[in-house]
Amino acid sequence: MNNSKVIIALDFNNMGTALSFVLQLDPQKCRIKVGKELFTSAGPKIVERFVGMGFDVFLDLKFHDIPNTVAKACAEAAKLGVWMVNVHASGGRSMMIAAREAIDQCENKPLLIGVTVLTSLSAIELQEVGVQGTPEEAVERLAKLAQSTGLDGVVCSPLETAKLRKSCGDGFLLVTPGVRPKGSAQDDQTRILTPEDAINNGSDYLVIGRPITQADDPAAALNVISTALPSL
Ligand code: C5P
Repeated sequence: MNNSKVIIALDFNNMGTALSFVLQLDPQKCRIKVGKELFTSAGPKIVERFVGMGFDVFLDLKFHDIPNTVAKACAEAAKLGVWMVNVHASGGRSMMIAAREAIDQCENKPLLIGVTVLTSLSAIELQEVGVQGTPEEAVERLAKLAQSTGLDGVVCSPLETAKLRKSCGDGFLLVTPGVRPKGSAQDDQTRILTPEDAINNGSDYLVIGRPITQADDPAAALNVISTALPSL
């Protein structure tokens, strides 16, 4: 059984590079994330290929549309055999309920995760698009809305996990990017925590890209990160 808390972000722009990277990994020791860049380049075929290789795939396409369209997109994602899929919580209650109902009717039922506030948005930008209160208040409001519609969890910054764990309780999944092992490059991430601290704060899954994808030996880099994680 796969107990890994690490989801490796496959931020590659073509099938060949992504495949040769993934071939270095053991599907029992990690999970993988296919986002908009790789999906737009390589399409659903690569997702099916990874699923066929035994990987748990998080399809990170952040659906945001009218309820009917999002529900149908979620159903198609489920048919690909993915393990996790996500939608924007700001798409609203009806959209999230439609996504939930669509997945519940599928044979394969991926975990359904909400995106609260993109961590790239500043307080000023949020106000510009009409979001009231601080970014932290918006995150909490959207996480609770997502939870009330039956979503399985949310994506959040590791700096938000402790608060969300308290307000949403146990059993609501917190998936956190913005994680950097001690001593590794910060890249363009600003609000970071180490993998150990993120788990101690209540994260269930860590999304980690470059510290593993750019390592000389990705499997070894993954192993160093995984073995340092506390088993709670
Ligand atoms: O390379 P790095 O570890 O920074 O990659 C993090 C991954 O998590 C990327 O795929 C990025 O798009 C994603 N992500 C993020 N911050 C968010 C949401 C997603 O870094 N708020």
